[in-house]
Amino acid sequence: MADRLVTMTKPLLNVLAGNREPIPPVWLMRQAGRYLPEYRKIREQVADFLDLCFDVRRAAEITLQPIRRFGFDAAILFSDILVVPYALGQRVSFEGGEGPCLDALADPAALKILRRELDHKLLAPVYEAISRVRQDLPPAITLIGFCGAPWTLATYMIAGCGTTDQLPARLFAYRHAGAFTQLIDLLTEASADYLVRQFDAGADAVQIFDTWAGILPADEFRKWCIEPCARIAAAVRRRLPDARIIGFPRGAGAQLDAYLNAVAVDAIGLDWTVAPATARDHIQKRRPVQGNLDPLALLAGGKALDRSTDAILGALTPGPFIFNLGHGVLPQTPIAHVERLVALVRGAAA
Ligand code: CP3
Repeated sequence: MADRLVTMTKPLLNVLAGNREPIPPVWLMRQAGRYLPEYRKIREQVADFLDLCFDVRRAAEITLQPIRRFGFDAAILFSDILVVPYALGQRVSFEGGEGPCLDALADPAALKILRRELDHKLLAPVYEAISRVRQDLPPAITLIGFCGAPWTLATYMIAGCGTTDQLPARLFAYRHAGAFTQLIDLLTEASADYLVRQFDAGADAVQIFDTWAGILPADEFRKWCIEPCARIAAAVRRRLPDARIIGFPRGAGAQLDAYLNAVAVDAIGLDWTVAPATARDHIQKRRPVQGNLDPLALLAGGKALDRSTDAILGALTPGPFIFNLGHGVLPQTPIAHVERLVALVRGAAA
């Protein structure tokens, strides 16, 4: 991690320390991706998306693309959450732009294919890309590493692909609770280890993406989202007491309070379903908030973008706040809308 003096010059890290910035720092989930022509150009050169994640030079370059174009306050490492199942021994590929494809863990016996620990040799290019970006990044810009939360990883590992309802993992957890607990425990330890390595390589902060948290009933939410994420945060802090961690339990809704009670994150990422006034009154009083513009408002642009952005800024800028979307940038999003958004957040828009 960067030393204190350097750290304090980064607006985003200042917010993660619990302070307010008069102009909120801004970055966007999936800010490096298909909506950028310069990304698509590099993407065309490589058949499998995963090879791009393990190509140090290209991964570092793609990470920096949105910084050069928009001047965001943070760069998020270009990679994917599914490098973790891969480094545990599961086959992962992204064929023909169809989304991820893994060898499904159909029953408890299938868990035998997994290693007990990450193969860090396979992940070395990720750590190298972090170090390379760190060197090229202006000092005021925060470098964010990340991992998928155990539950979200398990939904892909068990189904073998993306699903709309995460049914295979939900059923597996009910039918084979013991084996599912073992899988979650393995992912919890691997994720903590992975995040510590990212800090060691030069990340300033990390985000834990629990994209599919919102589908779980309250009791399962506690077991499969809150407890593993709490253990990851605690394990990282045992080794790196000053580690800065953002939690993103997407769709948590009524469970947000319980998540904040148990998970030692420095800030909480909110999806777009949380009303800005609710975020201000119930969440920002407890922890710095990140979010929560609807990615579709950004895609639509015009009045929808201006109105939603103003509502969020009006409610949340008086407290510790990081501007972001409530989920990732959609590939069809016009560049001009992202430019407009950054200008609105920084108060420079007409
Ligand atoms: O800019 C950034 O945010 C950093 C890079 C990043 C990617 N994926 C790049 C990516 C990050 C942080 C992720 C996280 C990720 N990956 C999540 C959690 C957050 C979320 O978006 O919900 C999940 C669930 C995944 C798994 C994943 N990766 C899926 C389901 C897909 C296919 C769907 C899609 O959008 O294509 C991916 C592929 C992926 N990850 C792409 C990018 C830029 C597109 C791949 C391509 O260019 O062909």
